[in-house]
Amino acid sequence: VVVGRDGILSVRLAAAAGVRLAGLDTSAWGYNGTSPGPTLRVRPGDLLRVQLVNQLGQPTNLHTHGLKVSPQANGDNPFIAIDPGAEFDYEIRIPPDHPPGTFWYHPHHHGNVADQIFAGLAGALLVEGGPDLPVSSDRVLLVTDTTLDAGGHVVPADAMARMQGREGDLVLVNGQHEPVIAASAGSAERWRVINGCVSRVLALRLDGHRLTQIALDGSFLAAPIDRDQVVLAPGNRVDVIVRPAADGRFALLAVPYDRGSATMMGGMAATGGQRGPVILATLVVTGSTGSTPPLPTALPAPTGPHGPVARQRRLTLAMGMGTGMRMGMGMGFTIDGRTFEAGRDDQIVTPGTTEEWTVVNTSPMDHPFHLHGWPFHVMDPSVSTPPATTLQDVVLVPAYGQAGLRIPFTGHSGRSVYHCHILDHEDLGMMGTVNVR
Ligand code: C2O
Ligand code: CU
Ligand code: CU
Repeated sequence: VVVGRDGILSVRLAAAAGVRLAGLDTSAWGYNGTSPGPTLRVRPGDLLRVQLVNQLGQPTNLHTHGLKVSPQANGDNPFIAIDPGAEFDYEIRIPPDHPPGTFWYHPHHHGNVADQIFAGLAGALLVEGGPDLPVSSDRVLLVTDTTLDAGGHVVPADAMARMQGREGDLVLVNGQHEPVIAASAGSAERWRVINGCVSRVLALRLDGHRLTQIALDGSFLAAPIDRDQVVLAPGNRVDVIVRPAADGRFALLAVPYDRGSATMMGGMAATGGQRGPVILATLVVTGSTGSTPPLPTALPAPTGPHGPVARQRRLTLAMGMGTGMRMGMGMGFTIDGRTFEAGRDDQIVTPGTTEEWTVVNTSPMDHPFHLHGWPFHVMDPSVSTPPATTLQDVVLVPAYGQAGLRIPFTGHSGRSVYHCHILDHEDLGMMGTVNVR
């Protein structure tokens, strides 16, 4: 954990191969020799300085996923490329009014994003503050998946796995396979769960317990909500309170989730078929039964939805024939019929205005839609589990469905991106640019 002091957090992150994963020496990738990389803890108003050193054999860069920060210059700028052997100094100013919460960082060099995250490059980023919660532990559970061969090498994805969105055989929590989480009966714990998987949707359950959700992405809910299951698309975070009442061993599970299939088109075989539940971790509770402390009944949710709406737009996510396709196989992953071009402005937005975007999915699989730098309210209750006052930054747009977003383009201007957070789809071109100017 690296903690900011006196309004500044300066950290050097060296991206390189050769980390321990699941207790094994592997040639997987990490930051400063670990996967995930160090957890960065900042406060609103801090300056986050990251010296990113690229010791990989391909270009990389850094994205602070979910932070409402400027994408300009050497800020959270997705257009930066850091060549092998080079380094880059990021300076990310966290606004003084930035909400506290759970965020993460990962590479964002177009064309390499899925490979690099699958290889192990990710880390947690926490903005401190928020209400005092009666918890004895505050834990990060950064979930990633990968596939290793017998020699400890990360297995590359083939073209079909990229179209479906690769899912690894090995699901890890903080780089560990099925870790034990020890807790005492009668305590309360805050778990910040980050879905850092390239494509896998996590439908979380904890045996014998309900999960009390207090936050989604970087935003508190208005009040705690008890759930049997919490669903995280790739990129989403949830903060939950776990209140173990009696001793025992309880599995934290990711139960099967059907996110649709790319295989209906072109007659390709399924690569991500239904499997049984995956054990993420085991909660081991000791001590006598106890009654847990009560939670606050109200939480500092953001205000909103904001209005009035200055402009409405419709964006269409599609699979099939598109222009500028990167693949020869005939399947393109497009937004509004085109694939990503870094130099093209796809949406031009007036700074300070609120827009309503309807994101339509015409394909037979779910696509998690993500916008950098300007978190949004989800207006369509059929795809929004929490109340729409919550701001989030990834929404799972269901197959043949849609999501209505209300986006306050406030706080800063600049040019950034939106994309499918099945990162194989992003690398295949399912990304567009937004220029707020
Ligand atoms: Cu985690 Cu552009 O995303
Ligand atoms: Cu992001
Ligand atoms: Cu997608």
